[in-house]
Amino acid sequence: MLILSIETSCDDTSIAILEARGKKRASFNILANIVSSQMEIHAPFGGIVPHLAARAHQRNLPYVLEKSLNEAKLKSKVDLIAVTVCPGLEPSLWAGIGFAKSLAFVSQIPIIGVNHIEGHILANFLNNKNIKFPALCLVVSGGHTQLILMKDFGKYELLGETRDDAAGEAFDKVAKLLGLGYPGGPVVAAEAAKFPIFNFQFSNKFKISPCGRCPEGTQNSKFKIILPRPMINTKDYDFSFSGLKTAVLYLVKDLGVKITKNLIPMICAEFQQAVIDVLIKKTLRAAKEYGVKNILCGGGVMANKELRAQLKTAIQDELPDVVLRIPPIELCTDNAVMTGIAGYYKFLRDGADKISEIKADGNLKL
Ligand code: KG4
Ligand code: ZN
Repeated sequence: MLILSIETSCDDTSIAILEARGKKRASFNILANIVSSQMEIHAPFGGIVPHLAARAHQRNLPYVLEKSLNEAKLKSKVDLIAVTVCPGLEPSLWAGIGFAKSLAFVSQIPIIGVNHIEGHILANFLNNKNIKFPALCLVVSGGHTQLILMKDFGKYELLGETRDDAAGEAFDKVAKLLGLGYPGGPVVAAEAAKFPIFNFQFSNKFKISPCGRCPEGTQNSKFKIILPRPMINTKDYDFSFSGLKTAVLYLVKDLGVKITKNLIPMICAEFQQAVIDVLIKKTLRAAKEYGVKNILCGGGVMANKELRAQLKTAIQDELPDVVLRIPPIELCTDNAVMTGIAGYYKFLRDGADKISEIKADGNLKL
């Protein structure tokens, strides 16, 4: 089956063309995956401006389609159009939906609406036939931070989520208040990488100092910035990152601009570590409580190399029987490949949607 998928839920315009084979455990061949970033448009504002995002999607979509068709060199007609319908910025979602509906109508191709969060989770199923259910899913993006129990395709139970800011949103806001630009995740991670690290690993092997990253007696343990790890010990699976961002704000106010500038790598490293500590602690606890054999990660924040490495180490140390799956970096941040995979599995379950019934829903849950 040939699937053309469209993703415009936020600020990336993406169209992918996939070849799907098999039923319950399909395999997918990526024929094209074009992502057009709007970074330059939103950077001056330090965040996404919804109406500018929608306008840029409308402008970009025909070119992104042309590029993906040129790359895929299709020999037969597309069998299914998959488009993200929720959750996300409504003006952005409508841009993709309107385009997808026109294509479906004019070419008489079946269409299906896809949940963006399910897309992030199913990016792990690109070529993975051995994932066992129930699986624990950690979705960490600019709009969401959720722990989800996946019982089967289409069957999800939300275990916990952020009560305020998403983890990616906190990265973006911290970057903005440190004057590092947008999007925050990659720049904060790059600054954090400049801070001298000596093999910190999230494990019980050595004593961890209050800052959570410097083992006692090492070079950095004398001078450290300590940020909170919000809700790290609460018994639920919820998160909260807005207080962490506010702690950075107060720190910057206390230190003054001049000192802050010199300490940016250290602040970024400690902020990043605080987010990582909370995500790892809650994910491991949920994995133990629900006895899962697979942990499936997704979302833009999972592009963070420290998070990827430390989560891997923590699982090897504490849950050696559990298989950790994280998509390659380009399939963690928004892309239409994941939309195509989720669209295919939904099509197998429920068939196509009616063109007239497809609409955007900014807040729809899984
Ligand atoms: O999944 P995504 O591309 O879009 C949403 O669905 O929101 O995630 C975007 C978020 C942004 O907040 C961005 O700052 C963050 O992912 N991000 C990162 C990294 N790369 C992107 N956060 C931390 N470290 C990164 N390397
Ligand atoms: Zn996303």
